[in-house]
Amino acid sequence: MPASSTDTPARLLGISGSLRRASNCTAVLRALPALLDGRASLDVMTLHDVPPYNADLEGEALPEGVRRLRQAITEADALVICSPEYNYSIPGVLKNAIDWASRPSFASPLKGKPALIVTASPGLFGGVRAQAQIRDLLAATLARPVARQHVAIPAVDKKIVDGRIADEPTALLLGAALDDLLAELALVNAGRP
Ligand SMILES: Cc1cc2nc3c(=O)[nH]c(=O)nc-3n(C[C@H](O)[C@H](O)[C@H](O)COP(=O)(O)O)c2cc1C
Repeated sequence: MPASSTDTPARLLGISGSLRRASNCTAVLRALPALLDGRASLDVMTLHDVPPYNADLEGEALPEGVRRLRQAITEADALVICSPEYNYSIPGVLKNAIDWASRPSFASPLKGKPALIVTASPGLFGGVRAQAQIRDLLAATLARPVARQHVAIPAVDKKIVDGRIADEPTALLLGAALDDLLAELALVNAGRP
């Protein structure tokens, strides 16, 4: 069960939209605990083991990677999604994972789950063109994407160095965004719509 007490550190699940070994997005997620000051823990999950969505498998034993993804989302209090944009859009692996996690419709592990959307790119725009698409996708699942300015990190390859956030404005942006995520979680825990 998700933590409901404000005394208990929240459990965040970071989901990376990139499978790349040296992924910048995964590195962003791994750097976030330094900004949380013990208010929350953050586990990072990659999507290597999630097969293509196939409705036939829903009636049978779920693939192990899907079962683990759904369990991790269920056990998390809130999500941080960090993703690149591919061709101005959502990477297929991320879309696929959200499809798996979104079942059954409107009653899935994603329902009511606060989710912070972060995009990142070595390019100039920080993957910002995928932001609204990820938000819309989460809206379809009845998750609670945090309402705030975009958290898009351009030139990300220069901002995470040796696993640390090496750029002060980026650290401030991510810190403020995590504050907003935890505030959204507090609303959920207080039973607020
Ligand atoms: C198929 C493909 C499409 C891409 N399209 C975009 C794009 O539209 N905009 C962009 O900023 N970067 C694009 N990129 C570059 C990615 O942002 C870059 O590979 C990034 O580092 C991937 O994230 P990662 O470091 O977490 O793996 C694309 C890369 C690939 C492989």
